[in-house]
Amino acid sequence: MSGAAPADPLALLTAYQQSAVVAAAVTSGVADALASVEWRDGGAADGRAGAPARQVASASVAGAIGGSDAAGAAGLSVEQVAREAGTDPRATRILLSALVALGLARRADGLVAGAPVDAGTLFALTDAGAVLASDHPQTLAWIVRKEWFFYGVWNELPAAIEDGRGRISPWRERVETDRATAFGFLRALDDLAARFGGELAEAAAGLLPATRGDRADDVGAAGPAAAGSAAAGPAAAGTGDAGEHAPLRLLDVGGGAGSHAALLAGLRSDVRPTVLDLPQVAPVLAERHPGIPFVAGDLADERFGRSADERWDVVLLANILHDHTPAQNARLVREAARLLAPGGTLLLYEWIPDAGTTAPDLPLFAVMMMVENDGGDAYSEAEHRTWLEAAGLGEVELRRGHGPIAVVAARKPAGRTEERRSTAVEQQ
Ligand SMILES: C[S@@+](CC[C@H](N)C(=O)[O-])C[C@H]1O[C@@H](n2cnc3c(N)ncnc32)[C@H](O)[C@@H]1O
Repeated sequence: MSGAAPADPLALLTAYQQSAVVAAAVTSGVADALASVEWRDGGAADGRAGAPARQVASASVAGAIGGSDAAGAAGLSVEQVAREAGTDPRATRILLSALVALGLARRADGLVAGAPVDAGTLFALTDAGAVLASDHPQTLAWIVRKEWFFYGVWNELPAAIEDGRGRISPWRERVETDRATAFGFLRALDDLAARFGGELAEAAAGLLPATRGDRADDVGAAGPAAAGSAAAGPAAAGTGDAGEHAPLRLLDVGGGAGSHAALLAGLRSDVRPTVLDLPQVAPVLAERHPGIPFVAGDLADERFGRSADERWDVVLLANILHDHTPAQNARLVREAARLLAPGGTLLLYEWIPDAGTTAPDLPLFAVMMMVENDGGDAYSEAEHRTWLEAAGLGEVELRRGHGPIAVVAARKPAGRTEERRSTAVEQQ
């Protein structure tokens, strides 16, 4: 490992053998066991910096090692890791050497992965591997579990190619029958948004109109923790709040853990988000972004189940359309538009192929959507524009950042009545 670039656990997740090793370390508890040892000397990631002292953070590991003697040790042996994680010692030894080979764990003796392991060989996580621990502040554990679940689905890709059908049961079923996995998926999305969603929030913040009476210090004034702390419900049709500093009431439809609403409200203190999702999902929002109000709704219903006179200044559909067919998307965009106040903005965060790039992430994402969901795909900019225009929205603007997800904004004409707009859409 000497001289090699630090390992990137997220990059490792795209190759199946490496991904399996990373997933096994997380799901078996081996990573958590290793994380109970903290290197004190900040030695080099290749483990060649002598024999660093370590602290034992886990009471059960301390007990296993033997009370105060443990404090002088420099990592955990295979036996100790296996005891702490409840795993098979032989399998644990093999896994630990693989983690060393991937740069996610290191040996206290500084030797490389191929060196023999004996009872005195001690292991700990490297800096790169530390994020595999479930209590690390930037833990990747939920993301790793999510990816591992989808590896099982990728297995069925050949069959999906043959019959064109998605391989996962509908989400509504999954939140009922396998809530732990479904909640884990939403936590993973929240962790991904925390890592990569800032760019989307910045683009969206720039695409929203200035609030009436907006002051320059409104933008960027509040951190994500403040997001949604002051709830603002929808306005009834035709009774929009015309106050000097009227907030922008945002409905994050299929908002899940509330990640993107929180990031946007963190940048625009005038945005008051509410998350709409299936009722079963409410606990994840409460866990991850408790300041954001939740309303139960259903994508399958007219106006997503909201009342006929309810209007929002902003409706956000983040990572929703790629799970559906084009016909379903035309309907989803239309229902979202119906919830907008005149002059309101529909925001889409979507994986939209860019004709100017050869990067494989978009085509691979489309494959993943196709194998997961009936009708899932990554749709073109032209398709998105067609749905938006059919819903009576204009001033369509698309912004791309460094990542594969684009932000699209479209405006509902000011003063347009619901009746006239509906008629126009019905004629499409
Ligand atoms: C791919 S996740 C996107 C979550 C979030 N918008 C994001 O970008 O991180 C899809 C979301 O749609 C929600 N959802 C799925 N089916 C739904 C339905 N029928 N009605 C309301 N929400 C639904 C899920 O609970 C989940 O939060």
